Amino acid sequence: MMIFLLLVTSGTIHPNPGPSGDLSVCHLNARSLYSFDTVLKSNRTKLDEIEFVLCNELQYDVICISETWLKPDISFEDIKIDNYNTYRRDRADGFGYGGVAIYVSDRLYSMRRQELEIQGLEFLCIEVISLLVFVTDRRM
Ligand SMILES: *[C@@H]1O[C@H](CO)[C@@H](O)[C@H](O)[C@H]1NC(C)=O
Repeated sequence: MMIFLLLVTSGTIHPNPGPSGDLSVCHLNARSLYSFDTVLKSNRTKLDEIEFVLCNELQYDVICISETWLKPDISFEDIKIDNYNTYRRDRADGFGYGGVAIYVSDRLYSMRRQELEIQGLEFLCIEVISLLVFVTDRRM
């Protein structure tokens, strides 16, 4: 809560990004985002569930994940979800516990704001902005 308040009062965070302010955001504790499922013989079982349910069906704009348990040998390509941008911050010790990730729909503009993150914490900060789209048939 304290951290959230610090970010909101920093003046560069939008508490309600986008013109309508109705971004849909969810959070889940993955307890391993990418690990071998002996039944389906796949590392992507949880990622596939996230993709089918949270992305395709419920169409969340932003999906925040804790306990990703990602290790350095797992690439961005391994954990990619179509039409979403992937951000991750693995636990620094490399043993494959902890860790956080955020997926942001590529209908939105997003960028990592590393300068707002807290050193030594599994803390990921992404700025998300709804796209402004316009068309004109006149010269400005
Ligand atoms: C699952 O991930 C592990 C560790 O990254 C890798 O060694 C293994 O080859 C992967 N298995 C499959 C079926 O992709």
